[in-house]
Amino acid sequence: MNTPSRRHILASSAGLTLTALAAKQTQAAATPPGVAPTSSATSPRETARLDDGWRFHLGHASDPGRDFNFGADQSSFAKAGSWNWPQAPVAPYYNDADWNAVDLPHDWAIELPFVQPAYLDPNKDDERASHGYKPLGREYPDTSVGWYRHTFTLPPGDAGRRLSLEFEGVFRDCIVWVNGYRLTRNASGYAPFRVDFTDVANVGGLNAVTLRVDASEGEGWFYEGAGVYRHVWLVKTDPLHVPQWGTFVRSTVNGAAAAVALTTEVANDSDAACDCEVISTLFDPGGKPVGMARGALTVPPRGVASLDQQASLAAPKLWSIETPVLYRLETEIVSAGATTDHYTTTFGIRTIRFDPDQGVFVNGVHVKIKGTCNHQDHAGVGVAIPDRLQAWRIERLKQMGSNAYRTSHNPPAPALLDACDRLGMLVLDETRRMGSDAEALDELQSMVRRDRNRPSVFLWCIGNEEPQEVTASGGRIAETMKRLVNRLDGTRLITEAMDFGWGGPTGVSNVVDVMGFNYRPTAPTAYHAKFPTKPIILTETGSTVTTRGVYTRDPAHQFTSAYDVEAPPWAQTAEQWWPVCDAAPYSAGGFVWTGFDYRGEPTPFHKWPSVASYFGLMDSCGFAKDEFYYYKAWWDDAPQAHLLPHWTWPGREGKPIDVWCYANVDRVELFLNGKSLGMQPVVKDGHLAWSVPYVPGAIEAHGYRGDKLVVRERRETAADPAKISLVADRVKLAADNADLAVVTIAILDAHGRPAPEAANAVRLTTLGPGRLIGMGNGDPTSHEPDKTDTRRAFKGLAMGLVQARGGAGRIRIRAEADGLDSAEIVLTVG
Ligand code: GAL
Repeated sequence: MNTPSRRHILASSAGLTLTALAAKQTQAAATPPGVAPTSSATSPRETARLDDGWRFHLGHASDPGRDFNFGADQSSFAKAGSWNWPQAPVAPYYNDADWNAVDLPHDWAIELPFVQPAYLDPNKDDERASHGYKPLGREYPDTSVGWYRHTFTLPPGDAGRRLSLEFEGVFRDCIVWVNGYRLTRNASGYAPFRVDFTDVANVGGLNAVTLRVDASEGEGWFYEGAGVYRHVWLVKTDPLHVPQWGTFVRSTVNGAAAAVALTTEVANDSDAACDCEVISTLFDPGGKPVGMARGALTVPPRGVASLDQQASLAAPKLWSIETPVLYRLETEIVSAGATTDHYTTTFGIRTIRFDPDQGVFVNGVHVKIKGTCNHQDHAGVGVAIPDRLQAWRIERLKQMGSNAYRTSHNPPAPALLDACDRLGMLVLDETRRMGSDAEALDELQSMVRRDRNRPSVFLWCIGNEEPQEVTASGGRIAETMKRLVNRLDGTRLITEAMDFGWGGPTGVSNVVDVMGFNYRPTAPTAYHAKFPTKPIILTETGSTVTTRGVYTRDPAHQFTSAYDVEAPPWAQTAEQWWPVCDAAPYSAGGFVWTGFDYRGEPTPFHKWPSVASYFGLMDSCGFAKDEFYYYKAWWDDAPQAHLLPHWTWPGREGKPIDVWCYANVDRVELFLNGKSLGMQPVVKDGHLAWSVPYVPGAIEAHGYRGDKLVVRERRETAADPAKISLVADRVKLAADNADLAVVTIAILDAHGRPAPEAANAVRLTTLGPGRLIGMGNGDPTSHEPDKTDTRRAFKGLAMGLVQARGGAGRIRIRAEADGLDSAEIVLTVG
């Protein structure tokens, strides 16, 4: 076991050793390999995703007459039995035939038009711009409220079971009725919540869930969407069961072995005390049982009890960024000879250590944090991101060499964390609202309980740029939040993303374990000199404002240039922050603002017609901007010599073009039409530049490591757009009505060269078991719809998201545009 020096900060404030652990909870009834068949076969737990077959209707935030009479005469449909009134949408037999059919995840904001406000106060920040110019808010009562309905039957066999609905996240202020009974109201747009509807269930018959979702009030300063944008689950259990997020696994790595500590909660929803046995079986990443603990527990009537268990693992396989191996805990509850629950928890075994002089260590190996901050929307779908697209976004970030993700500024969707666990991406998990009031603590609690078993989560973030970060109250709030996190977890440290007040006499910086810095490049150095025992991480850094494919700033059209030259006054370009951070061993690394462009915050123009940010290293579709390759050069080892710009400049003959190369090799030689323009040595964390008088043809970079030519990159002058190319990220999809392909639409000339200025409108059609769920092109000023089958290319590219739907078979995707040869690809489903 490592002996920490005094200045090593442990990933535990409860003295739990150097090890953090993790696990993601899933509640599955399927029999995993190696588990005795009795375990799951007899488990009464059933979990079903309620994604398909919802009905949706806009309501109204100020006119009860257009809000199904909700609020008329102060009524709130709160009275039990209001289902007798069939005109009420909460009634089980309400006729919702004229409501729109929708599937989850669903974001109705994405379908609203962009709206330019009639009047702007010149002395105020434009909040409309921040939120992406969608008509949401008190000024737009007719588009800010949505109603959802879903019906399902419960078989007679469900009598005696506990029945609940688990909501992963709804934006926002969601009232839930089941069978006409008002059950809960959840304000947060990001925190998960659940309702137990056992008492009002219609077992053996039809059940109706009705939701009123009010997105009038936002929580952030960015696009937040509207609606049931994450999954909803129907969960059925025995009265004696593991409650939601009721397992906690942590491990200590001791040399070649690991000690695993388990805490299992068991809830008893009956009137008699229950004696039970808790059988915990651990499975290694190959599915082999490798450890077991059994223990007895008595659970009081209508109460919850918990049991601590231990197991030890010889030669555990450790989770890391490169080898993200996952273990599984199967928890079986047995009472009076019968299995009453079977609960699956996925976790990983790894250690995390923060060192104030050297940064972060994973399993004792130093890791520089090469992170990105991200919001949670994507082109074509808004915040309603299907699970596969969550994973695709993480894959894209990994392709850039990134190893960490900050969930700015809210708890993310579970599917995103699943991808981070599975693919090897560290996560800075962030709560939405800093506060010590009951509501804020409840949100923090649900995030920590939900995510504390995940190996990817390496640090908790309790706030971002809060005005209270320097006040005495802010310090007390941070202490209360920290106390809660330590009680619920205790294996990870906390930070806050601060933009001032580090080391102040009062405030948050004295409370957090790891000092978070947003921007202000010189502040960490000064802080480290003064507070040498506190680890440092750049919670937000960068951020160059770039437009993909644009090489001259164009304020008239509100396009920035793709060169790494422009950052807002509070921020830095890539080359202003990364070399400094890279050279500072005490800096754990940083999170660039942002990995992907997002809707809202149209910095630097801050005004119509810009509707999206320019910060991304990728655009809103995930197409790489050139800056992606700056980071890839220095965050990834693969030899690279990325050239920018493109080489199609009609009318610029003879004029100098700034040619940059993002290379991580030793030397690069540049050629114009086969003639050498000279060799340049590569400077660490920098870029190479040539000024090249434009001649049509081709530029080409040759990159050498030692004497060996290891990489070549070429840009050719394109002729007029002539044809379309279609490429899907995967050609084989699962027939699960959820899997998805990301389809890149590129406009090429007759010789297959990318046409960098092409803006053709491309129409996509699908035939077979699939559907197009959205399109995008990455243009931050585009007001074209996302839910469409026709979208203009922006700088030669557009994107379509095609989802498997309706069983196995072949999806034929066809792309057509006036004046261009069409293209077709086929995906196999099943
Ligand atoms: C930061 C803030 C982010 C985003 C960014 C834009 O100060 O934390 O949410 O607004 O600025 O530069």
